[in-house]
Amino acid sequence: MPQLKLAVLISGGGTNLQALIDACSNVDFPAKIEVVISNRPDAFGLERAKQAGIKAVCIDHTSFADREAFEEDLHSCIKEHGADLICLAGFMRLLTATFVGRWKDRMINIHPSLLPSYKGLHTHARAIEDGVRFGGCTVHFVRPEMDDGPIIMQAAVPISAEETEETLAAKVLRQEHIMYPQAVKMIAEGKVRVSGRICVFKGIDLGDTALISPLPI
Ligand code: GRF
Repeated sequence: MPQLKLAVLISGGGTNLQALIDACSNVDFPAKIEVVISNRPDAFGLERAKQAGIKAVCIDHTSFADREAFEEDLHSCIKEHGADLICLAGFMRLLTATFVGRWKDRMINIHPSLLPSYKGLHTHARAIEDGVRFGGCTVHFVRPEMDDGPIIMQAAVPISAEETEETLAAKVLRQEHIMYPQAVKMIAEGKVRVSGRICVFKGIDLGDTALISPLPI
């Protein structure tokens, strides 16, 4: 099967990027990172890409007159590298409906909550404050609304009595690193597709193990 070509967009540390780099370093993995693009020059993820021998590009959004001009360059760079799929990995810029439309069903994002709950920022603190029993993360296809779109994969983790924003973030991040490469693999192997507002799966075990917290006495 030909490898799916990825463009990974970042703004920061890039631990999810690293998880994708590590997965792609396996010759059997059905995807390859063609380019890593950051909108911030100081993003450590750019170093991670360089260390892995992957093309690293900074397109600094502050040097453009408006969002449209920035996205025009972004689009050209992604096309230039022949990417089939964009993976947003901690990319902290909102994208316009025009850009999202150009990459419809060819752009995915990872978000640190069980969507559609807790869109936006400070997801872990808000979940703890609400006393919900589970935190988690979601990989989804991108739609113009923030943190919206057909859900590909989710991981749920129980929230403990002593949980802090930091401990929950660390717990969830570990799952993100497992899940993001898996979601990319599913797409590359043609095992997931969008149907209306949701994803449908082919040859995938959707599981039937309940997560209960607190555990029944
Ligand atoms: C992750 O929590 C991801 O879910 C969110 O931004 C964070 C990026 O972290 N979209 P990293 O840069 O991959 O370490």
